[in-house]
Amino acid sequence: MTHRILILGGTTEARQLAGKLARRADFSITLSLAGRTESPVAQGVPVRVGGFGGADGLAAYLRQEKVDLLIDATHPYAARISANAAEAARQTGVPILALRRPGWEPGAGDRWTLVDSAAEAAS
Ligand SMILES: NC(=O)c1ccc[n+]([C@@H]2O[C@H](COP(=O)([O-])OP(=O)(O)OC[C@H]3O[C@@H](n4cnc5c(N)ncnc54)[C@H](OP(=O)(O)O)[C@@H]3O)[C@@H](O)[C@H]2O)c1
Repeated sequence: MTHRILILGGTTEARQLAGKLARRADFSITLSLAGRTESPVAQGVPVRVGGFGGADGLAAYLRQEKVDLLIDATHPYAARISANAAEAARQTGVPILALRRPGWEPGAGDRWTLVDSAAEAAS
């Protein structure tokens, strides 16, 4: 039996994961990109491009394509698609796995300055 996996991508990690999963004959992988990049690097698996139309649209896609597993491997700053993915998984009962980057840990030789926002970091 083939397991249909939808990976929400746009990150190096998503592309690497897709490449590894694509080796499995029992997995059918589709990688989804938002369409922000004009010429995205080859992802190594079938790609679909563009928004789904919110959580409801993504839920409809999951049902229509009979997706067995949803993997959220989007960028940490892409908060809306992650929220939509969680909601669509809840609506459809499709299992979801979120790939999260580990936070930075202070290491020897670092010089940390803690700030409250990206704007503060920039200034
Ligand atoms: N590699 C990087 O450095 C980097 C940095 C930032 C963002 N990104 C990637 O760029 C994409 C857009 O970022 P953002 O900040 O605009 O995200 P966002 O604010 O969370 O998403 C905005 C809308 O874009 C659509 N979308 C986002 N990711 C999608 C995906 N993988 N497949 C299909 N539709 C997607 C969704 O539209 P609908 O509601 O219509 O479905 C979503 O509601 C993300 O996929 C993210 O992983 C990569």
